Amino acid sequence: MASKGVLLRSALAFCFARAALGDVDGCTALAVGKKATVEGSTVTTHNNDCSLCDPRIAYVPARDHAEGATRPLAPFRLEYPRYVGTDRSDLYRPMPGQKDTVPVGHVAQVPHTYAYWEGTYPLVNEHGLGMGESTCSSKLIGVANTAGGTALFSVSELMKIGMERCKTSRCAIQVMGDLAVEHGFFGEDPGQGGAGEAVTLADRDESWVFHVTAGLNGSSATWVAQRVPDDHIAIIANHFGIKKVNCKESDTFMCSPNIFSNARAANLCSFETDEDFDFLGCYAPDIRTFSYMAGYAPIPYYTTLRLWRIHSLATQNDHLTVTNNPFDYAFSVPVAGKISVETIMNYTRDHYADTDYDMTKGVLSGTFGNPNRLEGGVGMQEIRGQFARGFSIPRTSYSVVVQSRHPPERSIAWLAADQPMTSVFVPFVASAKRAAAFYQTGQQEIFSRDCAWWAFNFVSNWMTINFQDMMAMHVGPKIKEQQDIIMKAVKTLDEQWPESDMILEEVQIGLQEHLVGERFGWH
Ligand SMILES: *[C@@H]1O[C@H](CO)[C@@H](O)[C@H](O)[C@H]1NC(C)=O
Ligand SMILES: *[C@@H]1O[C@H](CO)[C@@H](O)[C@H](O)[C@H]1NC(C)=O
Repeated sequence: MASKGVLLRSALAFCFARAALGDVDGCTALAVGKKATVEGSTVTTHNNDCSLCDPRIAYVPARDHAEGATRPLAPFRLEYPRYVGTDRSDLYRPMPGQKDTVPVGHVAQVPHTYAYWEGTYPLVNEHGLGMGESTCSSKLIGVANTAGGTALFSVSELMKIGMERCKTSRCAIQVMGDLAVEHGFFGEDPGQGGAGEAVTLADRDESWVFHVTAGLNGSSATWVAQRVPDDHIAIIANHFGIKKVNCKESDTFMCSPNIFSNARAANLCSFETDEDFDFLGCYAPDIRTFSYMAGYAPIPYYTTLRLWRIHSLATQNDHLTVTNNPFDYAFSVPVAGKISVETIMNYTRDHYADTDYDMTKGVLSGTFGNPNRLEGGVGMQEIRGQFARGFSIPRTSYSVVVQSRHPPERSIAWLAADQPMTSVFVPFVASAKRAAAFYQTGQQEIFSRDCAWWAFNFVSNWMTINFQDMMAMHVGPKIKEQQDIIMKAVKTLDEQWPESDMILEEVQIGLQEHLVGERFGWH
C-alpha cells in the first residue's frame, strides 16, 4: 500500500519535472578553501538534483592497464542502470536482461588509474580529490556524436577520467580541459540552458572551480578555472561564476588556449584587450532576459537567490540585498568565521529559514509549512514570476560533502541519500573499498526496503502530510541525533585511525547500516 503511494507520487513528480523543465537537472555545488573550515580541510559539495537518477554508490577500484590500452567513453546516462559492464566496478556487472553499455568512443588509457567512489557523478578518489557539479547555461552548444555531431564528452565522463588520473585539482582541470578540447564537449541538458558545466574541485590543499562549454561549431571545447582563495567559499548555482580572468596568473587561473579566440570567432561579446574580457558576461546568456526553461519567463532568482543565501550566511551579513543580477555577486566570498563540515551540510539542506524567502512560510507552503515546491507547471506560465528555489529540493537524489584532508586517504565523501533536508550524511572514506549494501542497491522506479535512497525518499514524501510538525517533533530531532552519533564516531576514528582497511570498512559499513537499518525500521 504505502509503496504504491510513494511510487505514484514519485512517478508524478518525475513527470511534472520532466514536462516542465525539459529534464533540466540543475544542481548546486560549493567549493570551500582550507582556511575557511574549522577542520582545515578543503570542501566541495554537490546536491545532485536529478529526477530519476540511479541511486547506487559504486566503488571503482584502482587498475593497471596494458600498453596501448584504450579507455571506453560511456554515453551520457543518469537513469538506472547508468552503466553496465565488467570493466569499471563490480556494481555494474550485467544483471539478467542487461546489456553492456556501448561506448560512444575511446581515448588512450594511462598505465594506472586510481580508485574512487562514484554516484551519478564521481565523489572522491583514493588521493582525496573530491568533485561537485552544476549545469550552467552557455551560448556555445556542443553536439554529441550520438546526435549528429562530433563531441564525445559529457561532464560526468570528464570528471571520472579526472578522478582516475589525478591527485590534485589542477591536474584534473588540465586533464578534463585537454580531453574536452581534443574530443569535444556537449552539455547534459538541451539548448543553451544546459550547454555549459561547472565542476567544483577540492584536493587536500586547494579548492577550484572549473567551467567548460563547447568550442566553435558544436565541437571541441572552451574552458576556464579559478582557484577559490583559502579563506573563501564559492557557490555555483546553474550559472557560471568566473567573471574576470587573468590567464597569465597561473596561481589563480587556468584557461583553454582558445578562450579569447573562440569568443571573438563566435562573436559572443566585444572586448578590446584580454583584461576587458569577462567569462560570465561573454559565454553565458543574460539570465535576466534568457528563458532558462523554454516557454517560461526568465528565472534569474533561480541562481541569484542561492548566491545571496550562501554569501549572507558565510559572511554573516544579514543586510545583503537580493538582486536578479549575477554580476552583483562575487565569484567567492571570505567567510566571517571558520565553518565546520556540519555547517556546510546544513547549507545543502537550506530553504532560506527566517528570511523573507523562507519556503516554509506563505501561501505556497500550504497548511503545513512545506518547503517543497514542484517547479514548472501551467501556473508559472500564466503568472509571471517565480518562487524561491531551495538548495535541497524534492528531486535531489543525493547530496555529497567531500572533505579533503591530510593524509589524503582519510578524506571523506559525506553522502546523504535523497534530499539532504530530510536525510543524514554518512561517511564514504577515500581509502575504504566496501560500503553497506543499502547504498549499493536500488532503483527509483521500484520501491524496495533494502535501499537507503528509498528509506529517505519515503521519509521525505511522508512528511508532505504535515511537514511542520513532523520536522519539529520527529524527523528534525532524529536527524540531529543520528548526525551527531555519526560525527562523533568519525571523530573517534580520527583519534585512532585503524591500521587495517578491513577495520575501517567495518566501521563505515556499521555506521551506514545502523542509520538505514535500525533507526528507520527497515529490516
Ligand atoms: C564554423 O562554421 C563556419 C560556417 O558556419 C565556418 O565559416 C567556420 O570555418 C567553421 N569553423 C570551424 C572551426 O570549423
Ligand atoms: C544544523 O541544523 C540543525 C537543524 O536546524 C541544527 O540543530 C544544528 O545545530 C545545525 N548545525 C550547525 C553546525 O549549524
